[in-house]
Amino acid sequence: MGPVTVITGASSPVGIGRATALLLAEQGHRLALLDVDEDGLAEAAKLCRDLGAEAITARCDVSSTSNVDDAIGAALAHYGRVDCLVANAGIARRKDFVDLTDADWEETLSVNLGGVWRCARAVLPGMLERNDGSIVAVSSLRGYPWGWAHHVHYSASKAAIEGLVRALAVEVGPRGVRVNGVSPGFVRTNQSLDPVNSAGEEGMRRSVGYIPLRRIGEPDDIAATIAFLCSAAGRYVAGQNILVDGGLTLGDLSPLEAG
Ligand SMILES: NC(=O)c1ccc[n+]([C@@H]2O[C@H](COP(=O)([O-])OP(=O)(O)OC[C@H]3O[C@@H](n4cnc5c(N)ncnc54)[C@H](O)[C@@H]3O)[C@@H](O)[C@H]2O)c1
Repeated sequence: MGPVTVITGASSPVGIGRATALLLAEQGHRLALLDVDEDGLAEAAKLCRDLGAEAITARCDVSSTSNVDDAIGAALAHYGRVDCLVANAGIARRKDFVDLTDADWEETLSVNLGGVWRCARAVLPGMLERNDGSIVAVSSLRGYPWGWAHHVHYSASKAAIEGLVRALAVEVGPRGVRVNGVSPGFVRTNQSLDPVNSAGEEGMRRSVGYIPLRRIGEPDDIAATIAFLCSAAGRYVAGQNILVDGGLTLGDLSPLEAG
């Protein structure tokens, strides 16, 4: 039987989480899909089952410890184990730094960073017992190496994920668990298509010239790297944060140089 994988933020029809679910379904994973959007979850699970995979769902707000413990508890009860965690759920909310309230800060940190540590904490005991497991956290190039104006809370949460990944990889690596991060560049999803809280379609279109591969990323592009880290092919990769950005962070300024 295939590995059991928990994916958070798996609902959005054009999201990285759903693309990862479908790819892992094709690869024979048994899935537990978590999100706040129950309709999207039901649709994602049906698509996974259509591919022949077993898939269960749980409504889960990753900023809630009880939601996470209940959802991962249900996955453990159903499958008896969790082999991989893809901690992908995230939000981006545009706000000037001086206007950030405690509530704004707490919300973004608690979903983006807190979601990773709550889920990792819930799956780790079983992984440590079996001396095996893979945890993949979705960060962002806006955490490292870039900053993001009007998104200090988002950048701080994503940069912190990378610290979490390195420290946890050192702590649990000796017990056979690999912890890694994936940092997407510009990927066409609901988050990036939102012109208020992110680049929007037009902003992404203008960015293409600065991306060496000359295209915006698709959710599948990120899913492929996540699947690699979940697979035996990634067995000697630990504590890394892999930028999947079409080369954007290489700083190709040729569009400017061309005038
Ligand atoms: N799209 C990009 O260009 C880009 C770039 C860098 C990083 N990322 C990161 O990729 C991850 C996936 O985002 P996406 O781009 O697919 O966006 P998306 O908005 O399409 O998907 C995010 C998913 O997370 C879910 N979600 C939101 N809050 C939640 C919560 N509290 N608990 C559980 N689920 C919740 C949403 O319902 C949605 O299904 C996020 O962590 C995001 O920050 C995206």
